[in-house]
Amino acid sequence: MGQIIDGKFVAETMKSAIALEVSELIQSGKRPPHLVAILVGNNGASETYVANKVKSCEELGFISTLLRFPPTISEKELLEEVLKINHNAEMDGLIVQLPLPDHINPDRIMETIDPRKDVDGFHPINIGRMAKGLPAYISATPQGVLDLLAYYKIETAGKHCVVVGRSQIVGLPMSILMQRNHPIGNCTVTLTHSKTKNLVEICQQADILIAALGKPEFLNASYVKKGAVIIDVGLTRVVDESKKSGFALKGDVDFDDVFEKCSYITPVPKGVGPMTIVSLMKNTLLAAKGVIYS
Ligand code: GUN
Repeated sequence: MGQIIDGKFVAETMKSAIALEVSELIQSGKRPPHLVAILVGNNGASETYVANKVKSCEELGFISTLLRFPPTISEKELLEEVLKINHNAEMDGLIVQLPLPDHINPDRIMETIDPRKDVDGFHPINIGRMAKGLPAYISATPQGVLDLLAYYKIETAGKHCVVVGRSQIVGLPMSILMQRNHPIGNCTVTLTHSKTKNLVEICQQADILIAALGKPEFLNASYVKKGAVIIDVGLTRVVDESKKSGFALKGDVDFDDVFEKCSYITPVPKGVGPMTIVSLMKNTLLAAKGVIYS
């Protein structure tokens, strides 16, 4: 039977440690870390994510600035806004919430953010440094997964880790991180995606199965080896009339089906989700302290 990995609890514990560091920073005469979030348009999920990031800043004693722009903003105008923040010494971290409207190239925006302020870890310099094992901002969700594995003292060295999904934000960095020569790493990694053949057979070989494909309840017990560790990064809104919001959040794993078979599992919600924001806050604190690019 699986042990539930309580992401909410771990996130709260880590938040307390961050808040303590912020108060020490202020006591030493420094200003609090300052995170800037850019939100373009009014995508419902993005609104929620950004509101949660702003709320976490308030809870932890950070300064936050939310800059909202209409969906009609041009790419050039948005790039100019990014440059202004790059040059503002009072601002430590910048995130541009994705997705962006179709007329804006997200890669161009990400590449314009100063890597020293790229607390999302999306800039090619940060991705490259991460791959080389150099100090870098690591994107929030993969970092949150590493912190959960560390907190629960889950052995990773020599294990077969199968990552399902190759997104730039989760699957790809996750696969790089799990193979690194690092206390949480040293896995033999298989990165699978929509063109992978024999997905079931490959997943059945996983000691650690990381689901990040964005298909609600896609992975059931037939994909899972007995005793595997299941990390469910999926977070899809599905219509649910019984909920006040009108939707329920579903992971990529059929929790009830796999629960008996696995050794550990992250639930949805309250698994990986709460860790993502904590990682972002941790990166912003690192940015304020200037430690990654010192
Ligand atoms: N959209 C979905 N996840 C993320 C994230 O971690 N950062 C940003 N900027 N946008 C996102």
